[in-house]
Amino acid sequence: VILTQDELKKIAAFKAVEFVESGMVLGLGTGSTAKHAVDRIGELLLQGKLKNIIGIPTSKKTQEQALSLGIPLSDLDSHPTIDIAIDGADEVDPHLNLVKGRGGSLLREKMVEGACKKFVCIVDESKLVKYLGGSGLAMPVEVVPFCWKFTANKLQNLFQHSGCVANLRNDCKGEPFVTDNGNYIVDLYLKKDMEDLQVASDAISRIAGVVEHGMFLDMATTVIIAGELGITIKNK
Ligand code: A5P
Repeated sequence: VILTQDELKKIAAFKAVEFVESGMVLGLGTGSTAKHAVDRIGELLLQGKLKNIIGIPTSKKTQEQALSLGIPLSDLDSHPTIDIAIDGADEVDPHLNLVKGRGGSLLREKMVEGACKKFVCIVDESKLVKYLGGSGLAMPVEVVPFCWKFTANKLQNLFQHSGCVANLRNDCKGEPFVTDNGNYIVDLYLKKDMEDLQVASDAISRIAGVVEHGMFLDMATTVIIAGELGITIKNK
């Protein structure tokens, strides 16, 4: 049987929920993979197999999903320490560094996942890359709307040597995509390895106008990869 990508996402998500115990504070991720994990948590709560869970959503969309499932919610102000966060990723490199944010929720995801004891990242095998940016897809950066072109140019110039192209993300109507925090997203397309990721991360963050970027370095403690041949679990 050949499994669809969505079935693989679900397998990874269900595996991750096995780490969840009653009484935990959970970071609830965003995206088509994390959605399966949130559904599963809701199901186990309903069945009484999980009790006293508090969810900290990483986006308005996940907040709505969790509310519809009856998962009790809170926020980082009230729960600054999270037991486990479960979330997807757009790319996973061999050192378990991630690119996230193609769904546009990178800022809240980074805040929540930076506050957890365990961050379980769930992906299907198509997300594995040799280096971040290696999928040829976007590396997202959240920027303030004020003079976003100025910020986008700074970002493009920063990676000029890698043939970087910086594009403002649009929504389906051709208007600028607006994040849950009222900001824009500049998508960076890189043609080469960024080499020292920490240096690249710091350089992006130093640009005034940048709110946060989608590189999640050294944050995932576990990555669950679902593939045609089964599940692989990698721990940091
Ligand atoms: C949301 O902003 C993202 O970080 C998602 O977690 C990531 O894009 C993975 O999404 P999918 O599970 O839909 O591929």
